[in-house]
Amino acid sequence: MTKETTPHHSSESIDLTAHLGRFTFSNCLMNASGVYCFDADELNELNQSKAGAIVTKSATVEKRTGNPEPRYATLTHGSINSMGLPNLGIDYYIDFVLMAQLDDQAKEKDSKFRFISVSGLSPSENIDILQKIQGTPYQDFVELNLSCPNVIGEPQMGYNFSATRRLLEQVFSFYTKPLGVKLPPYFDLVHFDQMATILNEFPLAYVNVINSIGNGLAIDTETETAVIKPKNGFGGIGGDYVKHTALANVKGFYDRLDPTIKVIGTGGVESGEDVFQHLLCGASMVQIGTSLHEEGPEIFERIERELHDIMASKNYKTIDDFRGKLKSLM
Ligand code: SIN
Repeated sequence: MTKETTPHHSSESIDLTAHLGRFTFSNCLMNASGVYCFDADELNELNQSKAGAIVTKSATVEKRTGNPEPRYATLTHGSINSMGLPNLGIDYYIDFVLMAQLDDQAKEKDSKFRFISVSGLSPSENIDILQKIQGTPYQDFVELNLSCPNVIGEPQMGYNFSATRRLLEQVFSFYTKPLGVKLPPYFDLVHFDQMATILNEFPLAYVNVINSIGNGLAIDTETETAVIKPKNGFGGIGGDYVKHTALANVKGFYDRLDPTIKVIGTGGVESGEDVFQHLLCGASMVQIGTSLHEEGPEIFERIERELHDIMASKNYKTIDDFRGKLKSLM
């Protein structure tokens, strides 16, 4: 009797396309806001990469230099940062994205520039920025960052549940374009329940989890000094350290959110296997931060290939064959 071999899909039959809102992207991979997206040079470099979509640096109304350096350090299994929202101001990113979209349209190319990140320094600054965007021709996603842990003296809005609800009430009283929120990590299932209940009250396009785990501390033993300068060394932790917290947040929100609100998974992605796990937890798109910073935009090609190979080995033809289908032990 001949041994039955597992049929593996040929490369051509595997479709990596991903969907969010009215868009189809060539794959589910994106940069995480803050990494490789500060200015036109970096954004154009990402555009040349295999990333499926691109998000800008989180913008404030005015441009900012951010916190004093050193403000980023590579750690054994990830990174610590306290950048403090250095950015070129919202007008810069709106103009850049609109121009890039026109350029892509002229070339009859699907644009990757579909996400502008916004992080006002106060609720009223967020409202001002969204009012400005509402008045522009930009029609695509805004990612409202409710989770930057690094602005000195400013709390992470996503940990203040009633303030988050108040802000979203104000936003949706006038804002009509697709809006997502980027949240900090939660560590308590009751907090997942409470935050999801609030988010489900609004017509959000997506929820992006997680931002860095805020206010970690990394120390250089030899010099007995914190490795970054701002906030006496306290900063957001990213990379492999945060992957399991990120997966729990993706799964936790995927299970609790109204199915019209999609989930973007961010945190600890270094390989195609990490992307596969985020997708199993229900992510529609997956963002890469620390490893993009370490490896540069070529990382997208490697990770796309690794994801493709995992799908081939498991006989999956499309992402929707396994997305959101994480099994529990019986
Ligand atoms: C920063 O600019 O400090 C990082 C942004 C963020 O974590 O949201």
